[in-house]
Amino acid sequence: SFGIDRTNSMGINLANDDQLRALAEQVNAAARSDWRAAPLVPGAKTIGPDIAVTNPADRRQTVGQWQAADSATVEKALQNAVAAHDAWNATPAASRAAILEHAADLLEQRMPQYLALCTREAGKSIPDGVAEVREAVDFLRYYAAQARKQFAIEPLPGPTGESNTLQLSGRGVFVCISPWNFPLAIFAGQIAAALAAGNSVIAKPAEQTNLIGYYAVKLLHEAGIPEAVLQFLPGDGATVGAALTKDPRIAGVAFTGSTDTARAINRALAARDAAIGVLIAETGGQNALIADSSSLPEQVVKDAIASAFTSAGQRCSAARVLFVQDDIADKVTHMLAGAMAELKVGDPGLLSTDVGPVIDEDALKMLVDHAARMDREATKIAEVALDADAGNGSFFAPRAYALKSLDQLHKEVFGPVLHVLRWKADQLDAVIDQINATGYGLTLGIHSRIDETIEKISARVKVGNCYVNRNQIGAVVGVQPFGGQNLSGTGPKAGGPHYLPRFATEKTITINT
Ligand code: SER
Repeated sequence: SFGIDRTNSMGINLANDDQLRALAEQVNAAARSDWRAAPLVPGAKTIGPDIAVTNPADRRQTVGQWQAADSATVEKALQNAVAAHDAWNATPAASRAAILEHAADLLEQRMPQYLALCTREAGKSIPDGVAEVREAVDFLRYYAAQARKQFAIEPLPGPTGESNTLQLSGRGVFVCISPWNFPLAIFAGQIAAALAAGNSVIAKPAEQTNLIGYYAVKLLHEAGIPEAVLQFLPGDGATVGAALTKDPRIAGVAFTGSTDTARAINRALAARDAAIGVLIAETGGQNALIADSSSLPEQVVKDAIASAFTSAGQRCSAARVLFVQDDIADKVTHMLAGAMAELKVGDPGLLSTDVGPVIDEDALKMLVDHAARMDREATKIAEVALDADAGNGSFFAPRAYALKSLDQLHKEVFGPVLHVLRWKADQLDAVIDQINATGYGLTLGIHSRIDETIEKISARVKVGNCYVNRNQIGAVVGVQPFGGQNLSGTGPKAGGPHYLPRFATEKTITINT
């Protein structure tokens, strides 16, 4: 814990059927069709028109409406955020932390309502939704605890008889741009970190998950964050995201999404005639799982399935490529096909569902196009059957393909598709070289029972999160700080001890006593 006293959210026991059934009932009771989201910008006029939000599991079902911010609202938000910053930054870190902790308590109490939002707007399964709410709660408490510790005045040595102190404080206005795949956890995590560090925040949710973002911001306001200190700006990338990131009044951006968008934000920040802005980015991956012939095929298959298909493969941590040593490859491939046949794709509100829908029709089309190319260029190992009514939602059947070469993958395929490559005993270094050569460096799974192999791979591979003999998803706040390197991000790890200082400036005060 790097010296902070904290525990993670307890969540609920997913192995207890009664508890889970009771939760599912509460979630279904909390689901509504009249959720509404609009910009939360004091003094701005609300602008229409309403845009319908539909359920990715059933496009015939409307779950709510949202309104986009226009340019005047963006400008008003910037003015408010600049005006609100100094007072918030001057609020003691312990007081800022107490508000975030209050928000964590409220979120924990209202888990069914937020689970319902995650299920209906983002297509999350109930276990995924539980993990999502817990992670958001953990981020709020973790950054609160870190702020108490890291933003206290630090006495420094005074070798010349002077007194020296070091203090961290907020940078100014931070823009948080979050992804739809963790619409509550990453959204709340970025905001909590920026607020804990003393910044005022403008939060831009992904366009697919405006409702979840709106209700998260409302909860933070209710907990005590002033409305001008945290503003909510839903809207399209050009009107909101691009306008904010090129504005000289912002101090930095926390972004999770594609590598291309991170580059565009970096260029926008650099082109401003203003202080050099900070970019904290967590981007994509081309994550591999390496299994050698000493590994247990049953465990490899179980962890490959969890890593590739949980959350319909829509995690940046998800395994995309299984490199399996040829001695066990036939067995693993055979067992993989058998285990995939047991996966149930369907309504994420049902407890029997393993894999829910993908987020929208664009995501579905990208996957369908990729599968069509794979059907021509690779060998299909398995394709999960879909129910007859799957056509009402954005459902994509999980698939596994045997590839001839990693070059057959041109970019990250963000969905439930696992690619399998075989390697021979003398090719381990070449496998590691290929993984590093993708340029991405987010997660890596290793399955082996040979210590030297584990040490060699984990030492040589350039990734942020390396997992051995387990699945490679679901990093836990404060336990597995999460984030990658190179094309996968700028480095600082969410839920880790070095994250908050990136949102801060540092000042030393030297007094000649
Ligand atoms: N933090 C998430 C995970 O570890 C990533 O997207 O799965």
